[in-house]
Amino acid sequence: MRILVTGGAGFIGSTIVDQLLAEGHRVRIVDYLEEPTHPGGRVPAYLPAAAEFIRGDAGDPQIIGPALDGIEVLIHDAATGGFTPHLARYLERNSAGTARLLETILQTPGTRLRQIIVASSIAVYGEGKYRCAAHGTITPALRPPDQLARGLWELQCPHGDGALAPLPTDEGTRACPETPYGISKYDQERLCLVFGRHHDIPVTALRYFVTFGPRQSPTNPYTGVCSIFATRLLNGQPPVLYEDGQQSRDFIFVEDVARANRLVVGNPKSYGRIFNVGTGRATTIRALAAAIADALGVRREPQLNGEFRMGEVRHMVADVTQLAQLGFAPQVSLEEGLQRYVRWVRAQGRLQDAFGAVEQQLKASGIVQGGRR
Ligand SMILES: NC(=O)c1ccc[n+]([C@@H]2O[C@H](COP(=O)([O-])OP(=O)(O)OC[C@H]3O[C@@H](n4cnc5c(N)ncnc54)[C@H](O)[C@@H]3O)[C@@H](O)[C@H]2O)c1
Repeated sequence: MRILVTGGAGFIGSTIVDQLLAEGHRVRIVDYLEEPTHPGGRVPAYLPAAAEFIRGDAGDPQIIGPALDGIEVLIHDAATGGFTPHLARYLERNSAGTARLLETILQTPGTRLRQIIVASSIAVYGEGKYRCAAHGTITPALRPPDQLARGLWELQCPHGDGALAPLPTDEGTRACPETPYGISKYDQERLCLVFGRHHDIPVTALRYFVTFGPRQSPTNPYTGVCSIFATRLLNGQPPVLYEDGQQSRDFIFVEDVARANRLVVGNPKSYGRIFNVGTGRATTIRALAAAIADALGVRREPQLNGEFRMGEVRHMVADVTQLAQLGFAPQVSLEEGLQRYVRWVRAQGRLQDAFGAVEQQLKASGIVQGGRR
């Protein structure tokens, strides 16, 4: 098939591209090589020559119109990510950019497009599902800022019946994104699904959970917890953990995310549907930091300042039943994936601690709050 991957020069997009090429598909990439993910806007060395590369904005009709020529499947992976104070940036680039991309499809005569696969995110959920001993399964609101300021990290029953226990979050859980990035990811997902229904183009939405692995930009200080921790450790600095480090996430290796994309390409069972792409396994951030330090062979305790990020959820692990029913099972464990990531990161030569450079700015802009000042 002829497949267009927007954001195909990025961490996940390029891994999808490699797997599609290996399967014999013809692949075109549209990517504008955003900084600081791509330092100096340079084409990354890993980009395969076998893929056609178009440098430009996936939300620019002048770029995406010609790029759609002959394309049967569009994998829309382009997005600006992270926890930053730039509210409008996410909506302009991700939400409006996706809207313009979809409008361009309509304005492209003779399009052969048969499917759109849109990269959505764990970030669309807000807090996911929890169990309350008194009230059963609930989907609570975010922890209030005054609770966080007092260092009370676990979610509490809204009716005063004690702490809540996290449950796997399924796709039917109400979406309630709590960051500008999360709002824009939900916009991308909804715009594509609604567009597909209105114009009879099958759409599959994949909600990636926290993805890690080789090619995750070591120069972007706003995204990629593994890269942030690894570059800190490689520079003799401790990873900075927010809250008490016991918040948990579902970490999935990048090649497994790419496999999930391949699984849904041209698969009618995926049409019109939303799938979590995770492992179903929860890992605390503290355990992740220790595992990265181990994999790097560095002994360095993490730093806990009692700080927290507004909009951050406490626990989030995927219910992966839906994708498993399509035949998906992750193949790379956290431990093996970290080994492979560490081999890659070590091969990148001297890397700066990008997080250290923006730490004060994150506090000054109110993204990071609390703790000792
Ligand atoms: N990494 C994760 O843990 C994670 C989790 C959930 C969802 N996602 C989603 O997966 C996708 C890929 O993320 P990633 O982690 O590989 O990030 P990344 O920054 O490595 O890759 C994104 C790529 O898209 C490009 N890009 C961004 N906006 C663009 C635009 N308007 N036009 C053209 N190119 C553009 C960037 O230059 C970059 O190469 C994104 O949609 C992201 O929201 C990622």
